Amino acid sequence: MSEQTLSNLLKEDRRFEPPADLAEHANLTAEAYERADADYEAFWAEQAGRLSWETPFERVLDWDDAPFAKWFVGGRINAAYNCVDRHVEAGHGDRVALHFVGEPVDDTRDLTYAQLKDEVSQAANALTALGVETGDRVAIYMPMIPEAVVTMLACARIGAPHTVVFGGFSSDALATRVVDCEAKVIVTADGGYRRGAPSALKPAVDAAREKASSNGHDVSKVLVVQRTGQDLEAWDDDVDVWWHDAVGSASTEHACEFFDAEHPLFVMYTSGTTGKPKGILHTTGGYLTGSAYTHWAVFDLKPETDVYWCTADIGWITGHSYITYGPMANGATQVLYEGTPDSPERGRWWDIIEKYGVTLFYTAPTAIRSFMKQGREIPDERDLSSLRLLGSVGEPINPEAYVWYRHVIGADKTPVVDTWWQTETGSIMISPLPGVTHGKPGSAMIPIPGISAEVVDDDGNPVPDGSGGLLVLTKPWPSMLRTIYKDDERYVDTYWSRFRQQGYYFAGDGAKKDTDGDLWVLGRVDDVMNVSGHRLSTTEIESALVSHPKVAEAAVVGAQDEDTGQAVCAFVILRDEAGDGGKDIVEDLRNHVRTQIGPIAKPRQVMIVAELPKTRSGKIMRRLLKDVAENREVGDVTTLADSSVMDLISKGSKASSDE
Ligand code: PRX
Repeated sequence: MSEQTLSNLLKEDRRFEPPADLAEHANLTAEAYERADADYEAFWAEQAGRLSWETPFERVLDWDDAPFAKWFVGGRINAAYNCVDRHVEAGHGDRVALHFVGEPVDDTRDLTYAQLKDEVSQAANALTALGVETGDRVAIYMPMIPEAVVTMLACARIGAPHTVVFGGFSSDALATRVVDCEAKVIVTADGGYRRGAPSALKPAVDAAREKASSNGHDVSKVLVVQRTGQDLEAWDDDVDVWWHDAVGSASTEHACEFFDAEHPLFVMYTSGTTGKPKGILHTTGGYLTGSAYTHWAVFDLKPETDVYWCTADIGWITGHSYITYGPMANGATQVLYEGTPDSPERGRWWDIIEKYGVTLFYTAPTAIRSFMKQGREIPDERDLSSLRLLGSVGEPINPEAYVWYRHVIGADKTPVVDTWWQTETGSIMISPLPGVTHGKPGSAMIPIPGISAEVVDDDGNPVPDGSGGLLVLTKPWPSMLRTIYKDDERYVDTYWSRFRQQGYYFAGDGAKKDTDGDLWVLGRVDDVMNVSGHRLSTTEIESALVSHPKVAEAAVVGAQDEDTGQAVCAFVILRDEAGDGGKDIVEDLRNHVRTQIGPIAKPRQVMIVAELPKTRSGKIMRRLLKDVAENREVGDVTTLADSSVMDLISKGSKASSDE
C-alpha cells in the first residue's frame, strides 16, 4: 500500500457497532481483555480447559529455552479425539459435521459426527496397516472432499504428522515437500472437479514420487481416493492402493492413543525470503487450544445453531485451523465446498449459503473484490438473510471491499471481522471481537484477548499512535510455530533475531497504529509477496525462472494489483545464446513458472531486460523494479553500481507497454 493510500485509509471514519443481540449473547465479552491482561497464562489455561485432556497439564508455559516454547507441559491429548469422538460421547453424534458440496451440482453428502468418527477410525486403521507409525510423516495432496479432512484427522489420531500440499501445486513443488519431510505415504485422489471438469492429481503424485526417488527418498505407499473416475495414467501395484479397498474394508473401531501436548501435529510449508519453502511445525495441545479458542471467540460460534463456511482450501493454514481443527474441536456444523466460485455459474457461492442457511462466512478479500466486479445483482438474487457474521483473511481488506461485503452480502447487519494471522501464528492474532469491538473498514483493530502485539520502530520501541512501523508479537502464544522443520537455526534467524534483545516475534509485516491505537496491517516488508492471499517468495519464482534454459538472471517483485492484491512481475535477462528468446519467450516463461510451482505463481508480466539494478555489493534493488512495475517515477538510484541501468529498464518497459 502506498503512503497516499495509507493516509486515505487513516482518514476512514466509518464505524459499525456490534449488533445488540450478538453483543448480548457473545461468547466473549469485554472483560476477557482485562482478565487475559492480568494473567495471560491463567487465561490460556482456561482456554485449554475447553478441550478434553487425557492427562491434565502441570505447567501452562515453559519459555525457559526461548524461543523454543513448550505449552501445557505434561498434558496428554489427542487432536482427533477432541475433534470427533468427544462430540459423539457428549450425545451429538447425529449433528452434521460436514455438509459436503461437490462442484458438480447435486453432488452432495452430509456427514454426521458419528459417521465421521467411523471414517476417521477406518482411515487410521488403514494408514497403520500401510505401515504408518506414530511420528511418520504423511503427505496429503487432495481436492476439497471429506476424505481430505478425514485423512488429516486420521493422521492426528495415530500421531503421524501430516503435510498437506495444495492441490494446485505442481509435481515439483509436491516433490520438494515430500522429500523435505520424508513422507512415508502420500494420500491423494484420481482428481477433483475444478471449473466444471475433472482435474487430475494422481499423475502429479506419480511424477513427484519419481523425483523424490531420484533425490534419495522413496515413498512407500500412495493411497488414492476415487473421486472423478478419470483414467489414471499409471498404477503401480506395489505402491498404489485404492482408498475404497484399504479404508473401506478397515474396522470402524479404533482406540486412540494420547500424545504429549508437544507431539508434532503437522508441517505446513510456506514461502519465506529464500527459494526453499519453510516447513512450519505445529504441535498438538497449543495449536488445538489456539485454533479452537479463536474460532469460538472471533466467529462467536454457537455449535447448536450455526452453519459455518470457510472457503479456504485445506492446503493452506486457513483450511487447517478454520476447517479441520478449530471448528471440529468446537463441534461445529460446516460446509465443505470442492470447487470454484463461478461453477457452473457465478452465483454458486450464494446458492450454497441460501441452501444450507450459512450463518458464519469466512473468505478472502480477493474473492470479495471479484464479486464486487461482477455486480450486486448476482448475490441480490439469493436469500442471504441467514448470515450473521462475515470474516476476512489473507491480505489487507480495502475499505471499499469491506463496506461492500458488509452492505451487499451482510445486508448491513453483520459485523465483518478482519482477521490478521499467519501460517506461523497458527491461529488468529488480531481481529475485532464481534460482540465487543466496533468495526472500522480496513482495520484489523486490536489483538484478541491472550495475544500481545505492538508496532515498533527499527530499534524495537513502540511507535506512538498515528505512526507506522513493524508488527511484532511481544509474548508467546499457544498456537505459535515451534520451529522450522529440521532447521532450528532458520527459525531463530527468521523470527527472533531482529528483536532478540526484546524477545519479540517479528511477523514480517508492516503496520500502522491510528490515532485511536487501532492496527492497520499494511503487508510484507520482506521479499514475500501476497497474491490473492497466497504467500509466494520472490526468490522461489526467480529460481524457477532461472531454471529455464534461456534465462541467465531474473528478479521478481510483487506489484499492486486491483484484483489479486499483488501480482507477480518478473524482470529477466536472457542468456547470450538465446538471442531475443523468440516471439513466444514471454508466454514460455510465464508457463514455465506455472509448471514449476503452480498456476498461482504464474507471472502477470515478464519483462525482458538487458541489465538489473544492483548495488555495489551485487544485491538486486527490487524497490526500483517495483517502481517500474507499478508505473511510478523511479526512486533514489544513488546506491546503484551503475545508475544508467534504470533508464534502460524504464525506457524498455515504456516501449513494451506502448506497443
Ligand atoms: O502479510 C500478512 C497477510 O498474510 C500473511 C500470512 O500469510 P499466510 O501465512 O499464507 O497466512 C494467510 C492466512 C492467515 C501475513 O504476514 N495477511 C493475512 N491476513 C491478513 C493479512 N494482511 C492484512 N490483513 C489481514 N487480515
